[in-house]
Amino acid sequence: MSKAPSVLQLNRLHFSYEDTLVLKDISFQIEEGEFVGIIGPNGGGKTTLLKLILGFLRPNSGEIFVFGKEAGKSSCTIAYVPQSARFDKQFPISVLELVLQGRLAHLPWYGQFSKKDTAAALVAIEQVGLMDHRKKAFGSLSGGQAQRALIARALASHPQLLLLDEPTASVDQEAAAEIYSILKTLQGKITIVMVTHHLQAAVELVDKVICVEQTARVIEPRQICEHFTLGLYHGPLLVLKKHGRAS
Ligand SMILES: Nc1ncnc2c1ncn2[C@@H]1O[C@H](COP(=O)(O)OP(=O)(O)O)[C@@H](O)[C@H]1O
Ligand SMILES: [Mg+2]
Repeated sequence: MSKAPSVLQLNRLHFSYEDTLVLKDISFQIEEGEFVGIIGPNGGGKTTLLKLILGFLRPNSGEIFVFGKEAGKSSCTIAYVPQSARFDKQFPISVLELVLQGRLAHLPWYGQFSKKDTAAALVAIEQVGLMDHRKKAFGSLSGGQAQRALIARALASHPQLLLLDEPTASVDQEAAAEIYSILKTLQGKITIVMVTHHLQAAVELVDKVICVEQTARVIEPRQICEHFTLGLYHGPLLVLKKHGRAS
């Protein structure tokens, strides 16, 4: 019996924006059910890496396979929670309507949400603990609640691969802990790749850490502390980010 393809397989990937080399000779693989943390300094290329995986950007050389198919061509469902999603707080949309957007890919050509879509959206809302807020305007939520609603939208699509870009960057520590506990309930059920500045989360939560700073190094979460003491990390990575209160 042939082995199922890895969820992600990157082989000697290089990427530059115009003349600026951002990612160099990146190779790693991620298997089904793994929860992977991506860390690294600002500008290290983490977001670019996610966009390459999504097929929004194309590598200059090298290969990216998502479930065995070239990035952007996989029929598997990938959900993406972008970095500090900017949204118009005045836009009149309820939490349920926002989460239903995650069902768009499941819509038939005549474009009506079915009871099944609403049910899937409600399950996702329940998963992130926002049931009491489902009818509220998305713009009225706190920063942490808004981030959880965006995670629910991603979950409503029933993704096989969930990509999150700094899901706790703009929320306070309490809200960050809530987000991490939600992700923990998904651990092993969905393959998760999360960019984070929260080293503690990386150590405590994930199965594998990839440090991206133009190149990528796969490290065991427990090695992070050793690397600290060796001074291999610097700048913002050394300090657990102090989050301002969500607006
Ligand atoms: N659209 C773009 N055009 C040109 N350069 C970019 C673009 N997006 C990001 N960069 C540059 O690529 C590098 C990596 O950025 P990014 O992937 O956003 O890093 P990270 O997410 O790790 O902070 C940075 O130097 C950034 O300035
Ligand atoms: Mg980024």
